[in-house]
Amino acid sequence: MNVTLKIQSIEKKYQTVKALDDVSLNVEGGKILVLIGVNGAGKSTLLKILSGLEKPGKGKVLFNNKPINATELRQIATLVFQRTAMFDRSVYDNLAYGLKIRGKKDPEIEAAITEALHSVGLRNFEKRKAKRTSGGEQQRIALARAFLLEPEILLLDEPTANLDPNSAIIIEKAIMKRKAHQHVIIIATHNLSQAQRLGDEIVHIHDGKIVEHAGSKEFFDKPQSEVTRKFINGELEF
Ligand SMILES: Nc1ncnc2c1ncn2[C@@H]1O[C@H](COP(=O)(O)OP(=O)(O)OP(=O)(O)O)[C@@H](O)[C@H]1O
Ligand SMILES: [Mg+2]
Repeated sequence: MNVTLKIQSIEKKYQTVKALDDVSLNVEGGKILVLIGVNGAGKSTLLKILSGLEKPGKGKVLFNNKPINATELRQIATLVFQRTAMFDRSVYDNLAYGLKIRGKKDPEIEAAITEALHSVGLRNFEKRKAKRTSGGEQQRIALARAFLLEPEILLLDEPTANLDPNSAIIIEKAIMKRKAHQHVIIIATHNLSQAQRLGDEIVHIHDGKIVEHAGSKEFFDKPQSEVTRKFINGELEF
């Protein structure tokens, strides 16, 4: 059965800034939902709330139609930031940690890590010191780590922002493969062509509000709102 995630009338304020204002959204497993919007629009705030790292001021989140709190969200959701901290150990140890605490056996862990590293284009990186790898490599290790955990909600904040074009395509393919797991996948990106390639559905957040939500083709071909039309044509003025 497909999982569902429902966001109902969420509001998040930081002092005087309303980062999210009455945001409601239904997300289905097995599809990729892409969040787009200008700097400061509220994309990362929404991802943080869905990962349980931040609590909304108002509103609620439902998982498979049951209300779910931040502590419970932390157990089923994984958020990959643009920059992720690595332990001062090997790449293998960094990837194995989450699997070991779940009681997985070594041969199973080894095979899963080999496959995950391959999927992000880092074959044979097991023995390298994680902290000495490059910024883009660390971003890909963080993605491999998230894939290995098989979270029911996978949240990616600008997953290819530091990557060379070739690696970005490898990562896009790896993300698309995750659809087969029928989990919820939400990605924030500034790259509109990437949004078009990856997104089954696109959500445009502007000033903390959802101004447009549609299937990818409809979203880019016939945006309903004026602000979305301007945003995708690079004509937004401030
Ligand atoms: N911890 C915080 N304290 C104060 N204000 C915050 C905090 N986190 C976010 N904000 C503010 O909330 C708004 C939304 O921020 P958010 O990081 O969600 O934007 P974003 O859409 O991810 O932007 P970007 O594209 O630059 O990553 C911004 O105005 C930001 O300055
Ligand atoms: Mg952000």
